[in-house]
Amino acid sequence: MCGIIGCAGRGDATLDTLVHGLSKLEYRGYDSAGVALAGADVEVVKKAGELDALREALETDSPAGTVGIGHTRWSTHGPPTDANAHPHQDCTGDVAVVHNGIIENYQALRDELSEDHEFLSDTDTEVVPHLIEDALAAGAEPEAAVREAVARLEGSYAVAVVISGVDAVFAARNDSPLVLGIADDAHYLASDVPAFRAFTDRVVYLDDGEFARITADEWTVTTLEGSAVDKSVSRVEWDAEETGKSGYDHFMLKEIHEQPRALRQCLQGRVDEMRGQVDLDGLERLQPTRVQFVACGTSYHAALYAVHLFQQAGVPAQAFLASEYATSPPPLDGVVVGVSQSGETADTLSALRVARRRGAKTVAVTNTVGSTMARECDEALFIRAGPEIGVAASKTFASQQAALNLLALATVGADDARAVIAALRDLPGDVQSVLDSTRAEEIAEEYLDSDAYFFIGRGLQYPVALEGALKMKEITYEHAEGFAAGELKHGPLALVTENTPVFAVVTGDGEQARKTIGNVKEVEARDAPVVAVTDGQSDVERYADHVLEIPETHPRTAAVLANVQLQLVSYHTANTLGRPIDKPRNLAKSVTVE
Ligand code: M6R
Repeated sequence: MCGIIGCAGRGDATLDTLVHGLSKLEYRGYDSAGVALAGADVEVVKKAGELDALREALETDSPAGTVGIGHTRWSTHGPPTDANAHPHQDCTGDVAVVHNGIIENYQALRDELSEDHEFLSDTDTEVVPHLIEDALAAGAEPEAAVREAVARLEGSYAVAVVISGVDAVFAARNDSPLVLGIADDAHYLASDVPAFRAFTDRVVYLDDGEFARITADEWTVTTLEGSAVDKSVSRVEWDAEETGKSGYDHFMLKEIHEQPRALRQCLQGRVDEMRGQVDLDGLERLQPTRVQFVACGTSYHAALYAVHLFQQAGVPAQAFLASEYATSPPPLDGVVVGVSQSGETADTLSALRVARRRGAKTVAVTNTVGSTMARECDEALFIRAGPEIGVAASKTFASQQAALNLLALATVGADDARAVIAALRDLPGDVQSVLDSTRAEEIAEEYLDSDAYFFIGRGLQYPVALEGALKMKEITYEHAEGFAAGELKHGPLALVTENTPVFAVVTGDGEQARKTIGNVKEVEARDAPVVAVTDGQSDVERYADHVLEIPETHPRTAAVLANVQLQLVSYHTANTLGRPIDKPRNLAKSVTVE
């Protein structure tokens, strides 16, 4: 949801540093990009379109300066045009601002400023440079002018500011992520660590209401009012190379193939197979009597999956779409778990805040150490998947499933805990064998010209069906829907034709499998092609046109393996259709607005 970067360095590296940083933040939005560098003047270059459009513009117009800011945009106010691209400036051209978030009182501010200031864009952001301009004109020092302007903002923001003749970048945050990077010869500010990870592993995570100032030599973090804040410096544990494509055509394919490693990392040091126990650094003391999950998108599907794990242990559990939870909060009595790859999703943060205000104990299950969610919740469980750059969540879904199994085992147990632990131990190898033997590409080719794609599953496999459909629609732009297998006959069956392949996830050979096979027969009777995703324990193959095999395993881990097959079908469909897989239209990876 927009990426911002700031850099205060030496020599002439700042521009390249900003562009490099933007290339690492493009997953947050790719409607436009821009930079501003400050020396005696502020020079701005910005372009609608992906970063390459900015790169091209910089070939002929290359601003100089040792301090600068940059932005990659996911549009909220106004279409993706050059004029709406950040940075935005004041009337004098001495101030430039980049912003991530939504300024809720921008219209009132704009009305107030319009008499004396000229606005050139549709954005909410543009009020900020004009507010700074007024403060400077009234005699405020640059830093004080920025503080004064920020104090007038309501809503969510991470802003970074440069001012002509000032060798510093100023920044502030409220409800949008901002992290500071510390190197020997430069300092950085960004929405996310990958923006400057190539230059340093030392970071300071800013909290809401904080204000930062960086120069080449020093950094300070204070409250917006100017009081000192004691910040600790953390070390990032992953390498810059992990944010590259490593020879894969797309980040998504790389990340699908990283799942065995991601799962190993998730499980490492947490599972004692001999004793059949899980050690989560004290989280096991939670022992909830009731659990509510809040999450969005793929993470919501992981939450739906987790509901089964807790209910199987006799603990009432529900999953809520985070955006709905805050609107109509259910009665509370227990623990509220936020599931989020980024740890910055505004809807999920908001739901967790509602829960906390009502007295709930909150737990963040997230991939991002230092994220707002991890810091705001009472407890955090990190899924350790490593950086995920592709907008479509892939390896993080598998790691969420694994981590939620650990959370359930550690806090409420399972009748067959040893069997689950053994299956989790084998999971990385089983995923690898799916990756090595999959026929997903062939099946993607076979059904390329379909009218729609349907996905069905029951129990633990229902969230997999939902996730299969989400991935398909997100990266291919084809119509796809996921259904609980038993629900098909209550309406959706009317959509089924010979040109709508149905992907049926059928694992095990118990009652659930038998019932889903009944649903498969209903589909087959309407001439729809059936692709069974199965471990071969049932006879679903008899009714399927194609089979995507997974190794035989525990039902919980079968849900991870089945999803890997479906990820690959979506990936190959999108690839054959020539879609921009890592950056699907209209989307962004980290959704920091409600
Ligand atoms: O960072 P989060 O897990 O909180 O993000 C939630 C959703 O925006 C996200 O899972 C989204 O649905 C995926 N990118 C879809 O692939």
